[in-house]
Amino acid sequence: MAVPDRVAVVTGTSAGLGLATARILLARGWSVIGVARRPASLTHEAYRHEQLDLGDLPLVEAFAAGLAAEAEAGVGGTARDLAVVSYEPGMVDTAMQAENRAASPQDLPDVALFVALQAQGRLAPPERPASEVAGFLERDDLPAFSERRLGA
Ligand SMILES: NC(=O)c1ccc[n+]([C@@H]2O[C@H](COP(=O)([O-])OP(=O)(O)OC[C@H]3O[C@@H](n4cnc5c(N)ncnc54)[C@H](OP(=O)(O)O)[C@@H]3O)[C@@H](O)[C@H]2O)c1
Repeated sequence: MAVPDRVAVVTGTSAGLGLATARILLARGWSVIGVARRPASLTHEAYRHEQLDLGDLPLVEAFAAGLAAEAEAGVGGTARDLAVVSYEPGMVDTAMQAENRAASPQDLPDVALFVALQAQGRLAPPERPASEVAGFLERDDLPAFSERRLGA
């Protein structure tokens, strides 16, 4: 499906859920601005990478101001609509889960739960929540701010 002139800013695009979401949006015709501390692992003509530590608030503010200016400049003189989506993905089979399973019980008291979730095949592939995010972003009635969770 082609989605002309739509731009998504996706955090964490060097791995895991963010990478899967960026790939799916690019495949659906979006332009994607990805953010991570590591360099881009994605190469696509419609992908732009911002190497940025989201814990560095002054840098994040400067990045956000640049995005707002781009949105205001818009396409053909018309400002872009902006929407923010915060998404709770459930339990997803990514490096983060592998780190959890490898942690010591002293550092992570619930480590046995994370080991069991994988052993029971209860981790979703990253593409599942990523597809859901993409579908949600393409709704015509997208609110300015929304919080979603997998399957809801
Ligand atoms: N996997 C799950 O089961 C699960 C469940 C609930 C919520 N989540 C949340 O979903 C998000 C993605 O998780 P994931 O499972 O995909 O983890 P992941 O595979 O470890 O990937 C995390 C991504 O976030 C980026 N990142 C981490 N800290 C950053 C920082 N300070 N600034 C910029 N980028 C940063 C990493 O890139 P760099 O290292 O290159 O910066 C990487 O691209 C996380 O917020 C996680 O808490 C995951």
